[in-house]
Amino acid sequence: MRFSLQQTNDGSYTVHDQEYGETYKSRHAAFTESEWVFYRPGVLENPLYQKSSFHLLELGFGLGTNFSYLRNRIDKGSPHIHFTSIDQDLSGAKYFAEQTKNEELVSMLHTKKAEFHQLSLELVETSFEIFFSKNKRYFDAIYFDPFSPKHNPDGWTAHLFQQSYRFLNPGGRLVTYSVSKIAKEGAQNAGFRIEKRDLPFDLNKRNSLVAYKDT
Ligand SMILES: C[S@@+](CC[C@H](N)C(=O)[O-])C[C@H]1O[C@@H](n2cnc3c(N)ncnc32)[C@H](O)[C@@H]1O
Repeated sequence: MRFSLQQTNDGSYTVHDQEYGETYKSRHAAFTESEWVFYRPGVLENPLYQKSSFHLLELGFGLGTNFSYLRNRIDKGSPHIHFTSIDQDLSGAKYFAEQTKNEELVSMLHTKKAEFHQLSLELVETSFEIFFSKNKRYFDAIYFDPFSPKHNPDGWTAHLFQQSYRFLNPGGRLVTYSVSKIAKEGAQNAGFRIEKRDLPFDLNKRNSLVAYKDT
């Protein structure tokens, strides 16, 4: 069996994928990762998250964990978030939806769209490279979330960092969990200013990366 469901220490679930040899989110604390690596630095602390609408791109929809976490965190007074997420393989999400009997996720995977209060989703089933080659839109933040550079090297190429930089609005930022050499150099060589962030103890991981496109 390729996939197996795992509960993490904060009560949220993730899935282990045998093919990549990794879990989709932190096997220690999946929602905690969504909060500290992605939502806080990427959205909440983002100065562009004041406009009436905020455009967020995710590279790697995975199980939809970051999306469902975001949905729980925003409220009626928040700017409207347009969430565009890219993934070439939704089989992990399909497995996760079946195992957790998540009808909403089943429906999102089918229609590739969802509309909630202050949050809309567009799910694009393609590779990151193909997405960027056709893209004409600009984003305020990028959740850069492939599997690890070791197991998913095509998710961490210099070209993907360049395209990410190109399609961010000035003042926008890219956030990712990896502080590996490939992530830091990829971001810096593309033009980003980078910063390491401390993570809570529960994640069993010291740092994440925030890459700024300065104005
Ligand atoms: C770590 S998981 C993403 C977790 C997800 N953000 C979540 O919140 O559940 C990485 C995802 O990236 C996708 N992926 C990896 N390389 C890709 C590529 N080159 N193009 C498109 N999708 C890719 C995989 O199929 C996988 O679903």
